[in-house]
Amino acid sequence: MSELKKRPVILDGDPGHDDAIAWVLASTVDEFDIKAITTVAGNQTLEKVTYNARRIAALLKLDIEVAKGRNRPIAGDLIIAPNFHGETGLDGPKLPEPDHKLSDLSAIEMMAKVLKESKEKVTIITTGAQTNVAALLLAHPELKEKIEMISTMGGGLRNGNWTTGAEFNILVDPEAAYTVYHSGLPLQMCGLDVTERALVYPEDWERIRALNNPVAKIVAEWLDFFFIHVSSLGWKGATLHDPCAVMSLIHPEIFEIKDYYVDIELKGEYTRGATVADYHGRLNKKPNCRCVVDLDREKFVEYLYEACGKFADWEVNL
Ligand code: RIB
Ligand code: CA
Repeated sequence: MSELKKRPVILDGDPGHDDAIAWVLASTVDEFDIKAITTVAGNQTLEKVTYNARRIAALLKLDIEVAKGRNRPIAGDLIIAPNFHGETGLDGPKLPEPDHKLSDLSAIEMMAKVLKESKEKVTIITTGAQTNVAALLLAHPELKEKIEMISTMGGGLRNGNWTTGAEFNILVDPEAAYTVYHSGLPLQMCGLDVTERALVYPEDWERIRALNNPVAKIVAEWLDFFFIHVSSLGWKGATLHDPCAVMSLIHPEIFEIKDYYVDIELKGEYTRGATVADYHGRLNKKPNCRCVVDLDREKFVEYLYEACGKFADWEVNL
């Protein structure tokens, strides 16, 4: 039987409940060779999201050192989201303590090392602000050719969620997003257009909880917490943003994807951080982004459920 072709992957995010679930999903993908986890400030401060990332890596038994990234955006002050993710950034279930030391390398140095050493081109999956990736591209333009693509959760072609026009990850660092969207790299964007349809309902995660393995129970408890604030906004299900950036790579067939030229608004008094698609071709520019705009929700949930089922007999030291 032919050997499965492994796909080198870097996970960059700000865990964050939905980042955490995205990384649980990613850890179950046989084709993924997770080369590095890097952190960026966003949902919480850099210190907190990095501690969370190291605990998630321990939970998933990933034999890698987490590398700390940027603690603030390129311009402006840091925005954090304790209303969604709590004071720790990952409030809810108890997690194992880190079982690997923090890397001595910065996120950018780690990303550059992985790109230099990888024989294959590397896929970068971002689920927070794009500060680290932008810094990597600015510091190491020669390594762009080693990047297969960037699958990113961020933006929204029709609406924002932190301001009317801007989604949180882009608004945290619009200049970084501008650098990435102008990099010429293959981009696949899971904006709010799809992630606000990636709804997991309480009955869905009760099924996950009923799998009764340590990771599935933690995922269910993460959703218990995440849904507290999300439901207060009127949502009937948890908007599972970040897992879309993983799921759309491994099951593209359940998503609707459209190619647009997308740019980042930097100056608008009310629209800074908006991801603006040239729907009508007025800018006469080639599309720079594969925009994921819809999904088969039931299949999304089923694949997430299957992924959580892969942790039977998983030992977790709490
Ligand atoms: O707008 C949703 C995004 O912001 C998600 O990545 C969530 O984790 C927060 O970072
Ligand atoms: Ca995130």
